[in-house]
Amino acid sequence: MNIFDKLTLPNGSIIPNRLAKAAMEENMADSNQAPSEALMHLYQAWADGGAGLIITGNVMVDARAMTGPGGVVLENDQYLNQFKQWAKIARSHGAQVWLQINHPGRQMQSNLGQQTWAPSAIRLDLGKMSNRFNVPLEMTQAMIVEVIQRFADTAQLAEQAGFTGVEIHAAHGYLLSQFLSPLTNQREDCWGGSLENRARLLIEIVKAVRAVVSPQFAVGVKLNSADFQRGGFSTDDAQTVVRMLNELGIDLVELSGGSYEAPAMQGQARDGHTLAREAYFLEFAEEIAKVAKMPVMVTGGIRRMEVAEQVINHGVDMVGIATALAIDPNLPRQWQQGDQIAPTLKPIKWKNKTLASLANMATVKFQLRKLGSGKAPNPNVSPIWALLLQQSAMFCRTRQYKKRMAR
Ligand SMILES: Cc1cc2nc3c(=O)[nH]c(=O)nc-3n(C[C@H](O)[C@H](O)[C@H](O)COP(=O)(O)O)c2cc1C
Repeated sequence: MNIFDKLTLPNGSIIPNRLAKAAMEENMADSNQAPSEALMHLYQAWADGGAGLIITGNVMVDARAMTGPGGVVLENDQYLNQFKQWAKIARSHGAQVWLQINHPGRQMQSNLGQQTWAPSAIRLDLGKMSNRFNVPLEMTQAMIVEVIQRFADTAQLAEQAGFTGVEIHAAHGYLLSQFLSPLTNQREDCWGGSLENRARLLIEIVKAVRAVVSPQFAVGVKLNSADFQRGGFSTDDAQTVVRMLNELGIDLVELSGGSYEAPAMQGQARDGHTLAREAYFLEFAEEIAKVAKMPVMVTGGIRRMEVAEQVINHGVDMVGIATALAIDPNLPRQWQQGDQIAPTLKPIKWKNKTLASLANMATVKFQLRKLGSGKAPNPNVSPIWALLLQQSAMFCRTRQYKKRMAR
């Protein structure tokens, strides 16, 4: 098996190779929360770079519920032409392009001025930074039904715009992941309690999405292999959820891990313990692949071709790469030409893990903005500088967002 072999998905469509650009939130929407020119530029770079699958940064299903200001929203057809252009550019070299669709639940900063929804009224615990988040409102049945409908509507619009699939984000501590975890879901109705109940929202969303898109449109799910918190969503739970998804026409399950509280997707568990330095979730993915009827992808810490090959040779079908493709969007082509580069950022070893995680994100987003403006990335940028730039950009985008929402 080779990373440049094709993969045929359960829906019959083909991914031209096993390398996927994993989702990275860009915060590069225009003032209407639609894809901007800079975002198109960025995706042209990834299209040219040769990844077989390009998954967009998370796109919100509700403008009132944002993972951050400057995020893209797709909730009606008002700006569909811009989405069409985005899909066309990203597909221009034959990659499949999936829109990642998401709802943040309680992982939304309070300064955006919106009501925060979550399965239970449990605020995010980020130590001194917790007060940046609201105590969420426990969702009513009507709110849950609305969210299901919104995921389906966004998926349908994504197909109309020309994307080849969607990926439903059920990882990293966002709303669907909050429902899955017993730590954040303490409901006593049919949406909480047993794993079957906690997975109900994800399952209902998958069914609702499948019902409105065509059979050849790909539907993927990003799931935590575990959330790395004691008493949280475990690998056994992930295996059980994958068994439930087996029957629902899913084309790919992407495995990651962690949340804002325990950013394992960046190689850090809650206790500061560092996960294996490369392909963090490979062992978990192997376990989960044993029960999965659909192809499995693993993302996290992959930047060397040898490791990517190792992933495929361990029975995992796709290799998800985020950071390394932000530093070098041409990575797949270069590997194919035999150039075994391994784009890497210097590790940020700050004591404050939350701040270190924010600085890491800011350093990666710095590269995305460079690519979006047609410039070369700069992986040696100072993380403090990247964080400061990011904070000031966030400040402006927050004001812009609040003005728009007030209108
Ligand atoms: C700047 C940045 C933004 C991200 N945004 C998203 C996102 O929108 N959706 C998502 O599922 N994962 C997101 N991630 C996580 C990545 O998809 C990936 O799981 C993680 O970075 C680990 O992979 P890597 O080691 O190849 O970077 C983001 C990561 C970074 C660095």
